[in-house]
Amino acid sequence: MIDFKKIIADKINKVVELEEGLEKYIETPPNKELGDFAFPCFSLAKALRKSPMIIASEIKEKIDISDNSIEKIDIQGGYLNFFINKELLKKEVLKEIDEQKENYGSSNIGNGKKVIVEYSSPNIAKPFHIGHLRNTLIGLALYNIYKFLGYEVIGINHLGDYGTQFGKMIEGYKRWEKEYDLENNPIDKLTDIYVRINNLCKEDEKVLEICRDNFRKLEEGDKYCVDLWNKLKDITLKEFQRIYDLLGVKFDSVKGESFYSDKIDAAVNILENKGILKESEGAEIIDLEDKGLGVCIIKKSDGSSIYAIRDLATLKYRADTYDFDKCLYVVAYEQAAYFKQIFEIAKYLDIPEKCVEGLKHISYGMTRLSTGKMSTREGTIVKADELLQEAIDKVDKIIEEKNPEMENRKEEATKIGIGAVVFNNLCTTLIKDQVFDWNTILNFNGETGPYIQYIYVRTKSVLEKVNKIPTFKEIDITKLNDKESLNVIEILYGFRDIVISVSEKNETSILTRYLLDLAKAYSNFYNENKIITEDEELTKARLYLSYATGIVLKLGARLLGIEMPNKM
Ligand code: ARG
Repeated sequence: MIDFKKIIADKINKVVELEEGLEKYIETPPNKELGDFAFPCFSLAKALRKSPMIIASEIKEKIDISDNSIEKIDIQGGYLNFFINKELLKKEVLKEIDEQKENYGSSNIGNGKKVIVEYSSPNIAKPFHIGHLRNTLIGLALYNIYKFLGYEVIGINHLGDYGTQFGKMIEGYKRWEKEYDLENNPIDKLTDIYVRINNLCKEDEKVLEICRDNFRKLEEGDKYCVDLWNKLKDITLKEFQRIYDLLGVKFDSVKGESFYSDKIDAAVNILENKGILKESEGAEIIDLEDKGLGVCIIKKSDGSSIYAIRDLATLKYRADTYDFDKCLYVVAYEQAAYFKQIFEIAKYLDIPEKCVEGLKHISYGMTRLSTGKMSTREGTIVKADELLQEAIDKVDKIIEEKNPEMENRKEEATKIGIGAVVFNNLCTTLIKDQVFDWNTILNFNGETGPYIQYIYVRTKSVLEKVNKIPTFKEIDITKLNDKESLNVIEILYGFRDIVISVSEKNETSILTRYLLDLAKAYSNFYNENKIITEDEELTKARLYLSYATGIVLKLGARLLGIEMPNKM
């Protein structure tokens, strides 16, 4: 596809003969009146030893635009503002969508590179709450987007299945299993068992001792404990699988923290040999105070392993197994300081430098319900499956009122309800907390998933009015000369860069914003222009634009994990 940034960069380069890759300096001006692209001449001032103003006028004078890709160039302050050839833009964009269809905007920038996306990572025998939901949705979107960009992506569900609390779980199960029907709502019952045994442990030191012992046995591979433990894992995963199925989530690898238990000693040895382990009150620690990162405990005074060393052993295993270029940890912001420690210690783990550099914590804020409930430890837990079901039910009710005859109503309500939740989880800058309010997220006219779906369905229904969707070859592009069409096409052109930018910043809200802009631009186009007109050529061109917009809306939504309904 035509790349105007590159064209402009190459032209500038021919004049200044400096370095390749001036593209990185090219910006999009804050408003279209200033130009389509801008080049800040400040960026060359040092190398050329001239003032930005002089550089700008020299480039403008010497630049060759006889190929017609650029219409005109303006100078504003130290900026060169470029106005691209709109007819060429329209032709190239619409042709590309015709050729690429649902691969439009994909690229090969990730070819030969491996990315691990660790996400979801719920805890065994514990509820899957809305925090895990947000986590899962962020991970899924990033997973899809990296794949689309040609990366080899490994999605890992890093289950929390380790720690003393699981010694308690085993004891509670052993004692009271018969009192519970674990066929229905097993997680609730396991939670109940956990609360009971926990209380007992507080009352009776001996019981606590047994629980500790259970965990030790589990670590040592005692058959009874391990079997029981696997059973609880199976029960839990079966429950979580329903949520994953509903969201379309698949993992390439599902491993619990326990999988790495036999790899811990090796990791400790490496760190020991590097001389960075210190003893402190019987525990083994790494002192990162001089880097402003505090102290990281590696082994407790009783010799048992903790979270950090399990993460380090996991990291070592991943680097050895996958030799990754990036490893993204989608984990709540509470663990930001912790991951800074882990990434610092990673430098001593004997793993390739590119792996160390590729470590990234994808931090995200908390979800708060407008009713006050939330997903913190103290707050009331909101369960993901209940929330998703509520979304589907609410949408079903809306459809029942507005369009009771709708075909495949259940299926469409599911896509819309889930789409609303997914979009809402991804559209707030990830690091920020998000408020979850039903009226806002289900508003078909708001900045929501249902709005994107609604506009998509509109593009479809426009096309249903004719018996054949025109192909690119059949249309006369000069017919699309109204400013609303041009606006839609300009946004369509931006798709490729948007997807790349999501991967560079690991920020899904860039794509949700884009889809809202595209949907609004199409809605404008639709409101201002008749699609079916007397002029057959004009009709064809407008139909084609509707078709092209529909493709990109659907594609963008799919990358986020949102399916499009057929009717709304
Ligand atoms: N299971 C943990 C939790 O629910 C999150 C695990 C995060 N991943 C990691 N590699 N530490 O809080």
